[in-house]
Amino acid sequence: MNQDNHHFEIIGKTFSGLEEVLAGELRELGAKNIRIITRGIKFDGNQEILYMANYYCRTAIRFLKPIADFSINNETELYKKAGQVNWSNYLDVHDTLAINAVVSQSLLKHSQYVALKTKDAIVDQFRRKFNKRPSVNTIDPTLRIHVHIRNNHCTISLDSSGSSLHLRGYRVKTITAPINEVLAAGLIMLSGWDKQSHFIDPMCGSGTIVIEAAMIAQNIPPGKFRDSFGFLHWKDYDAELWNKIQKKTNNLASELSYKIVGLDISDKAVHIAKQNIISAGLQPVIEIRRESIDNSQPPKDHGVMITNPPYGERIQTENIIELYKKIGDSLKQRYTGYEAWVLSSDFNALKYIGLRPSRKIKVYNGQLECKFVKFDIYSGSKKNKSICN
Ligand SMILES: C[S@@+](CC[C@H](N)C(=O)[O-])C[C@H]1O[C@@H](n2cnc3c(N)ncnc32)[C@H](O)[C@@H]1O
Repeated sequence: MNQDNHHFEIIGKTFSGLEEVLAGELRELGAKNIRIITRGIKFDGNQEILYMANYYCRTAIRFLKPIADFSINNETELYKKAGQVNWSNYLDVHDTLAINAVVSQSLLKHSQYVALKTKDAIVDQFRRKFNKRPSVNTIDPTLRIHVHIRNNHCTISLDSSGSSLHLRGYRVKTITAPINEVLAAGLIMLSGWDKQSHFIDPMCGSGTIVIEAAMIAQNIPPGKFRDSFGFLHWKDYDAELWNKIQKKTNNLASELSYKIVGLDISDKAVHIAKQNIISAGLQPVIEIRRESIDNSQPPKDHGVMITNPPYGERIQTENIIELYKKIGDSLKQRYTGYEAWVLSSDFNALKYIGLRPSRKIKVYNGQLECKFVKFDIYSGSKKNKSICN
């Protein structure tokens, strides 16, 4: 095994609002010098931490390893400086590559052009050296390269994750508007669920939130069902180290002393959720039922409820306001003892839950700004007339 303990900088990307959660996950893995950046974390780690971060972090979208950092004023300088990287360290002529570029507040305006110029710099270097060049494959390349330009500063990184880490590998089907797995895990971690009390999503759709909760409860690594990571194709890939990380004994809790329950009004959603749960091997620990929020019955006595009801933008229901009123009524009537969290981008509809929120957290579901709102349901909550705004 390569015992290289050499530390380097790593960038972990996440959703806005989940930076602190990801920082906490990385701290537990032994990452050093953790700094929060926009929608991400910078930290120092070695190859082992990079592999572990990909395998264990529930709230990361991807991990990048910067390999070049320079200032530029125009495309010609980008081509020249990207061409000064020794690309043979990372690629062979028979390999394939894909380039993602992100440009902000820069003289260079077009990310696609930035990607094209970087690709030209790389393939021209190979052509000069070997008279052959690697080809482009945007779907399943050997190496994904990430170019980030802000102002006149350019960072070129290798993408160690490959496809986005929200693609856990357990989802076989989805309903129209599934929540992103990374966001679902992040919400559960933000809620502070203690993994000792019941957990319910009464509008569970394809089951993402309850599946992520069950994986957290059982210490199942989020990378367990993925068959590919970018670093598996890197020239310095250390198979022995990777096998060791995957084999690390996890404290799998086989039987839970509490319930994890998903409910949905739709037969189709219930069917899809069950298929996803079977695919993740979690049918012994998650209960799924067709039940409407009107008469949804959580396990007694207390627990955590997290749900993302229809928002209006992505799913049309006949009357969103009526639905949010029903959620409020259900909480007041049957969820005493629960900490209830609702994720929604429909800030107006949220008011109709009719309970005073004890916390509000801003998060993003894709491009959509959402509120993740907490209601503590005490026996006196029925009388509480305050509304969420
Ligand atoms: C935004 S989706 C939830 C997505 C889910 N988190 C996932 O990952 O697939 C909202 C869900 O609420 C369900 N729903 C709508 N009205 C309902 C009601 N009255 N009772 C229970 N579920 C309802 C829909 O069938 C839909 O599956």
